[in-house]
This record gives sequence, structure tokens and C-alpha cells, in this order.
Amino acid sequence: MKQNVLITGTSTGVGFESALLLARNNYKVYATMRNLKKADALKQRIKEEHLDIAILPLDVTKIESITSAVDHIIQKDGKIDVLINNAGAGFAKTTEQASEEEIRWVTEVNYHGVVFCTKAVLPHMRKQKSGQIISITSVGGLVGQPFNELYCGAKFAVEGFMESLVTYVSDAFNIKISNIEPGGISTEFMASAIGKTAVNGTFATGEYAPIFEQYMAGNQKRASESTEQVYQTGVEVAQVVLEVAQSNNPPLRIRTSQWAENFCALKTKADPDGTKLIHQIRESFL
Ligand SMILES: NC(=O)c1ccc[n+]([C@@H]2O[C@H](COP(=O)([O-])OP(=O)(O)OC[C@H]3O[C@@H](n4cnc5c(N)ncnc54)[C@H](OP(=O)(O)O)[C@@H]3O)[C@@H](O)[C@H]2O)c1
Repeated sequence: MKQNVLITGTSTGVGFESALLLARNNYKVYATMRNLKKADALKQRIKEEHLDIAILPLDVTKIESITSAVDHIIQKDGKIDVLINNAGAGFAKTTEQASEEEIRWVTEVNYHGVVFCTKAVLPHMRKQKSGQIISITSVGGLVGQPFNELYCGAKFAVEGFMESLVTYVSDAFNIKISNIEPGGISTEFMASAIGKTAVNGTFATGEYAPIFEQYMAGNQKRASESTEQVYQTGVEVAQVVLEVAQSNNPPLRIRTSQWAENFCALKTKADPDGTKLIHQIRESFL
């Protein structure tokens, strides 16, 4: 029987490309998205390539929607082999100027969504005594960046959640956990973030405005100098997702490009994939 995989956020970007790549590599894919009206592009590719992909609704901010997708898969296949927590959304604004609603939203999509999807699959993986949970976090889950503190905080939270969970579910229940940490990816992500957060083209006003302008000028300079090194395509990141899914001994954390590796080096050099850390935590507590 094929390994099955539940992926969140497959309407565009990394989720879309991962769904295609995993299906081409003999996985049964449950490609989920919060808005099925965005499913046409994926449906077209499924048809053209005769891929084993079922599209289901799933909004990571709605627990009933998560439960109903998981229940559907269990009823159909009796198991879930791999969960890919991919859904996420960028958010750039000063903490002072972000509304309460925005702060709750960015945390719900990027952190609570991961926790609730993970919670929904864990009982099945525990009973199966096998499973794999892969989360697309970010270099922003390891290194904080200006005006991105609410997004980075949520991605740090995912890193901390998974780093803790792996210490007791991997040996006992054979549940593997990996965080994939890309740098920039040329997807809808930036446009969505700008559309959601920018007011008159800026993320920061008042006394923050000159610091924000400095930040943007630096971004533009770096981008013009090294766009190709900084930005990957969704396909390139999906390739790393496939490699992690296929690995017998997947890393706790992995960057997806040399740029991302260099960017995080001060945090990761001593233990790039997290193996030593897990060992040390287990030695200390279990
Ligand atoms: N792009 C980057 O520069 C970058 C860098 C590092 C890490 N990442 C991470 O990579 C992952 C994939 O992002 P991407 O670059 O592929 O961006 P993307 O093209 O914007 O895709 C994000 C996906 O998440 C979905 N999503 C948003 N809110 C959701 C919700 N409440 N429930 C379910 N799905 C939801 C979006 O659906 P809709 O189409 O309905 O909005 C979309 O399918 C994210 O976790 C992101 O944080 C991105």
C-alpha cells in the first residue's frame, strides 16, 4: 500500500509543488486548502499527469475543518503516514502598530495551525507506531528579523514545539519530526503579506517610518545583488520536502539553500541538523 500524506496550504507555492512532486514519487497525496475555489490549477495538473491526489478542504485556523479532513483520510485509508505542515502566511509590521486581531491571526495561522494539525494526526500515528511530521518553518524560525517579529515569533514557536515533541515521540512511537527552514521563496507569499499588512505601501509609520525605510533600502540592495542566491523556487523547496519524506533518518532541522545555511550559521553551526541537541535533551530528562 502506498504511503499517504496530508499537506496543508496546497493552493499555491511550496504546498502546491510538494503535492505534485510527492504524487509523482508514488505517494497518495491528500492536498488540502482552505478555499477550494483555488483548486483549479492543481486539478488541471492532476488530470494532465494522472496523479494520485485528492483535494480536501482544510483551514488550519478551524479545528473542525482539521478534524474532518483527518477523519476522512482515516476512513478511506485507515492511516496517515506523513503530515506536512506547510500552510503559513507572512506578516510584517511593528508590534506597536499591529492590531490585536492581526497578532492573533499571524500566531493562529503560523503556530496554532501547526499544533492543531499535529494534535489531530498524533493519535493515529501513535497507534500505527509510525509516522512523520514535516513542518515548513523558515530561517525566520531561527533568526529574528526587523519588522517580522510577530511572524518570526510564531515560527520560533513551531521550532520549539517540534524540538520538544520529538524528544519523546520518536523513540516510543517511531514518529519522525523535521522542520524545513527555507530563506526567501519566490511564491505568492510576499504579495499576500504586503496585501494583508501594508498601509499605503508601508508596514511602519510615525517614528518607525525612517527605520522601516532603511530596512527596505537594505532589502532592495541585497535583492539586486544576490536575488538568485537568496530566492529559491517552490519546486526547489518541494525537492527538499521529498528528500526529507523519503529519508530513513530525517533531520530535526534542515535549511534548503546555502544562503539559508549561511544566514543561520551562528545558531546552527554547532549542531546543524539538531541530532546532538535531541540527544542532550533526552540525556537530561528521560
Ligand atoms: N515565501 C517565502 O519567502 C517563505 C520563506 C520561508 C518560509 N516560508 C514558509 O513556507 C510555507 C509555504 O509558503 P509559500 O512560500 O508557498 O507561500 P504561499 O504561496 O503564499 O502559500 C501559502 C499557503 O498557505 C495557505 N494558507 C494561508 N492561510 C491558511 C489557512 N488558514 N488554512 C490553510 N491554508 C492557509 C495559503 O492558502 P490561500 O491561497 O488560501 O491563501 C497557501 O496555500 C509557509 O509556511 C511559509 O511561512 C515561506
